[in-house]
Amino acid sequence: MTTTLTTGLARLADPASRANPYPLLRELREASPFTDSASGIVVVGRRADCETVLRSPRVGSNRLGAGITKVPQQPNLMNLDAPDHTRLRRLAGKAFKPRVVERWRPRVEAVVRELLTDIAASGAGGVDMVSAFAYPLPVRVICDMLGVPREDHQIFEKWAHFIAYTVDPQLVPGELTTEVEAGVEEARAEFIDYFSRLIAQRKRAPRADVLSELIAAEEGGDQLDERELILTCILLLVAGHETTANLILNGVLGLLRHPDQLRLLRERPQLAEAAVEEVLRYDAPTQMITRIAREPFVLNDLQVAAGQPLLLLLAAANRDPRHHHDPERFDITRGDPGHLGFAAGPHFCLGSVLARMEGAIALRAFAQAFAEPRLDEASLHYRPHVAVRGPDRLRLTFEEVR
Ligand code: HEM
Repeated sequence: MTTTLTTGLARLADPASRANPYPLLRELREASPFTDSASGIVVVGRRADCETVLRSPRVGSNRLGAGITKVPQQPNLMNLDAPDHTRLRRLAGKAFKPRVVERWRPRVEAVVRELLTDIAASGAGGVDMVSAFAYPLPVRVICDMLGVPREDHQIFEKWAHFIAYTVDPQLVPGELTTEVEAGVEEARAEFIDYFSRLIAQRKRAPRADVLSELIAAEEGGDQLDERELILTCILLLVAGHETTANLILNGVLGLLRHPDQLRLLRERPQLAEAAVEEVLRYDAPTQMITRIAREPFVLNDLQVAAGQPLLLLLAAANRDPRHHHDPERFDITRGDPGHLGFAAGPHFCLGSVLARMEGAIALRAFAQAFAEPRLDEASLHYRPHVAVRGPDRLRLTFEEVR
């Protein structure tokens, strides 16, 4: 059994699994929890087990130096435990409260309109939704929120692409190329340099942006220091960029492949919020995350040792029939927010309110704007990342953009 499962985990990292990892995820979920003999990673795929791990005080997020991501990470929110995590989260969380995020709604709507206008103006009758729609949207929004000037947005896309490798778990095969490693290091250095300058500017002259809010965030006399500010900005860009783009793309793809659901969303635009929940469940942009056991514990009869890494297959848990009715069906009326697309517990996605807002505005606009959209299946191609799933090419043809 172990050989098959080890092969299964390796197959997950294989580019051939990218187009449809779900049969394999199902296999891994049903066999889980188990220890992958090649890597020593505990694989967790059932919904209830994932939730137990995410909420367990015996399990931590401090993966620094644990060798479970391909590229060394830095201490940010995502890989700290309480009490450091609690402190940073409280401070950074001030900038992502629903009330604060809501202020950016008109901006998100305006960016979506701009992008659709450009697509319509190109007069082409066909468009790559990755480069023309899903990718520019979150990067423009988060850059605007952070106060990054327009002319610098493009360079951010490149940095975000490289830094996304820092969250990919080290699955069995596949060393990073030196080119990618160099790209990650360069992106990091440039990023730090860029934000050091921007932070200095905002300290002198605060504006109505998230960066100024993060600088000002204070609790009981405590504030984020310069290094924490920079690492938080990097995290915000990385955590909120490819994930949100992929939410939109996985949503567009789900709708194109299920024309009845697209029709439904066109007729009932108020379903956009529920459609977003269904995309997060059915084709999660964050397919898996990792944890470290801080103490020994037993998970569903499996003994987990202190220090052992765990791989939580969120995308598998989201289709666990023990929790979701008819889980292989894409149904935007489901309105079931009980998925693990944003994880759960203390590290529950800090940007979930923003991601949900962007996703709903984008999918609603997509359904309304495109007349007779058709997926060009041959064009569909996935990014190499394993943990953050989404296409890097998705062409569709259409009659017109309204
Ligand atoms: C954490 C998913 C959008 C900021 C997480 C986690 C997941 C996730 C699964 C938990 C990671 C872990 O525990 O290891 C997503 C998805 C998104 C999205 C699927 C889009 C659809 C965003 C956005 C932002 C953001 C837009 C901010 C601009 C963060 C941050 C954390 C986080 C800062 C770390 C929270 C902590 O460790 O306390 N996200 N995210 N995310 N997300 Fe998101």
